[in-house]
Amino acid sequence: MLRAEIDSAMTVEPAKQVAGRLAVPGDKSIAHRALLLAALAQGESLISGLPEGEDVRATVACLRGLGATLQRSSGAARIAGAGLRSFATPHGDLDCANSGTTMRLLLGVLAGSWISATLDGDASLRRRPMARVIEPLRSMGARIESQDGRAPLMVTGTPLQGRRHLLRVPSAQVKSTLLLAGLSASGPTTVVEPVATRDHTERLLRAMGTDVAAADGSVVIRPSHQPLRPVEVMVPGDFSSAAFWMAAAALRPGWSVTIREVGLNPTRTRFLDVLGSMGAEVRVEENDDAEIEPRGVVTVTGRGLRAIALGASDVAGAIDEIPVLLALATQADGNTIIEGAGELRVKESDRIATMADGLRRMGAAVDERSDGVSVRGPARLRGATVESHGDHRIAMALAIAGLAAAGPTRIDGADCVAVSYPNFFADLRTISGLLPSPGSGEGRGGGL
Ligand code: S3P
Repeated sequence: MLRAEIDSAMTVEPAKQVAGRLAVPGDKSIAHRALLLAALAQGESLISGLPEGEDVRATVACLRGLGATLQRSSGAARIAGAGLRSFATPHGDLDCANSGTTMRLLLGVLAGSWISATLDGDASLRRRPMARVIEPLRSMGARIESQDGRAPLMVTGTPLQGRRHLLRVPSAQVKSTLLLAGLSASGPTTVVEPVATRDHTERLLRAMGTDVAAADGSVVIRPSHQPLRPVEVMVPGDFSSAAFWMAAAALRPGWSVTIREVGLNPTRTRFLDVLGSMGAEVRVEENDDAEIEPRGVVTVTGRGLRAIALGASDVAGAIDEIPVLLALATQADGNTIIEGAGELRVKESDRIATMADGLRRMGAAVDERSDGVSVRGPARLRGATVESHGDHRIAMALAIAGLAAAGPTRIDGADCVAVSYPNFFADLRTISGLLPSPGSGEGRGGGL
C-alpha cells in the first residue's frame, strides 16, 4: 500500500475490546542492512520477508542508483552483489526520503568507495544531525561536505584508515556507519558505545564472513578486504511495529494480542521487560531455528498497569517504543518517568514534544524536560484532533492512545504510517474489532 492510498486523516474510535493474532511487516532495521550488505557481497543473496514501507524502498532505490542489480518480487529481493568496486557514480542525488538509517549507513559505505555521491532526503531528514557520523568518518580520512552538519551530504570516496571511536550518544546507526566504513579501511576499526544498541549489523557481517568481535561495550571490525559472502536472510517481523499491538493489549485488563514471527533480538526487546514491570502478562515462545536473527511468538495480555521509571540504557533498548510507552503510561497508576532520552528529540520529529502535544490534547498530564519526560496516570483520555507531525511512530502511538479515549480521536497526517507500516490502520481495525464508521473521517479522512 502506498502513501497516496492511505487517508491523510484517520479517526480512531474507542475500543470495547482488543483481541487477535497477527503478523507485522518485516523488520526495517534488518532489511536496510541486509540489502546494503548483499549489494557489497560477491554473488547472489536472497532476502525474504522485506517490508513494503517507504524507508526500505528508499534503500532499494539508492542501491539501484548506485548500479546494484536487485530484483524484487512479493516481499523478497534477489541481489546479484559484485562488491563495493562495482558501485557506480549515480546520475542524480540519492534520495533517502525520511530514512536516517539509509542516509547514515550509506554514507559509511560510500566514504571508502571509489565514487562520489550526494545523499539527500525529505524536510525531516534534512533537519536531523549528521555531524555524529560526518566527524568520526572524517577522522578516518573521509571527504564529506554538508550543510552545517545536515543533509544534503556530498561524499567523495577515498581510502580510509581504521580508528577507535568513542561514541557520545548511544546510536546503532552511528555504530553501523563506522563499522561499514571500517569494512574498506586499512586496519581495525573499534566503536565504543556508552550503552549497548541493536546489533543487527554485527550479526549480518559475521554471517557474511567478516571478523567482528564484541566485548565490554566495544565492537571491533578487522577487515579482510575479501568480498563478503552472499547470504540468505529471512527478515523477522519488526519488533518496533509489533510493540503498538503489545501496548494496545496492555491498555485494559483482559485485552490480549498475539504476534507471530516477530524479531526477538535481545538488543531490541527491552519493551517486553517494561510491559512486564508495568503489570502486563507477557508470554514469549522463541523459535529454536538457527537464523541470524532470533524470532518467535509474543502474547501480551492486559492485567492493570502501574507506572515505571526508565533510564538511559532502557531507553536505548526501547528507543522506538518510547512514544507508544508514553501513550500506555497515561493509563498506568502513578508517575511514569523517563530519563536519558534526549535522542528522542532528534528522531523523525522531536518525539518528546510531539507526543506531549498529542497526549495533552487528549487530556493527559505530561511534563517535558530537555532529555526526559514524565506522564501522570491514570488519565481519562478524551478523543481530540491530534497531529502526527509527519512522524510515523507518533501517528501510530496516538492511534493506540485513541483506543483508550472517550470519543473519537482524529489523527491528522496519518498517511505517514507508510514509512514503516502501510497497513497499520487495517490491522488496528482487525484487533479492535471496529468496522469503518461512515462519516467519522472528514475530507480525505477515513474512519475506524
Ligand atoms: C536504527 C537505530 C535507531 C532507531 C532507528 C533505526 C537502526 O536510531 O531509532 O529507528 O536501524 O540502526 P539511532 O541508532 O540513531 O538511535
